[in-house]
Amino acid sequence: MNGIAEEHALCALKDIADPGTKGFEVALDGQQVLRLFVVRKAGALAAYRNSCPHTGAPLEWLPHQFFDLEQSFIQCAIHGALFRPEDGYCVRGPCVGRSLEPVELAVRSGWLYLVVTPLDGQHPPPGR
Ligand code: FES
Repeated sequence: MNGIAEEHALCALKDIADPGTKGFEVALDGQQVLRLFVVRKAGALAAYRNSCPHTGAPLEWLPHQFFDLEQSFIQCAIHGALFRPEDGYCVRGPCVGRSLEPVELAVRSGWLYLVVTPLDGQHPPPGR
């Protein structure tokens, strides 16, 4: 049985450049912290858990910097894996063929929200 979705305000949409990326840490229930980032490119938005499929390490080079130098791909700072911004699919690096774990976003009245749907009254693991 699915629980009721919770929304967590992240930031104003205008605070994310296009192209641009921004990282967040969201406390889900006082015990779990979900680390995620939002990527915006050509008007499209996507969000993923901030965890490389290779080792689980955070991806960013510097705070909020997840793009490669050309702002074409998400690039892992540890071993350089490249991920497509639109679907998180790894096209090069040690985890090629795997994908970043998407998280759900909602945009309302110019604000960006993380959407979390608990199952059976429990919060899902971070990234669900
Ligand atoms: S930890 Fe990301 S490519 Fe190795």
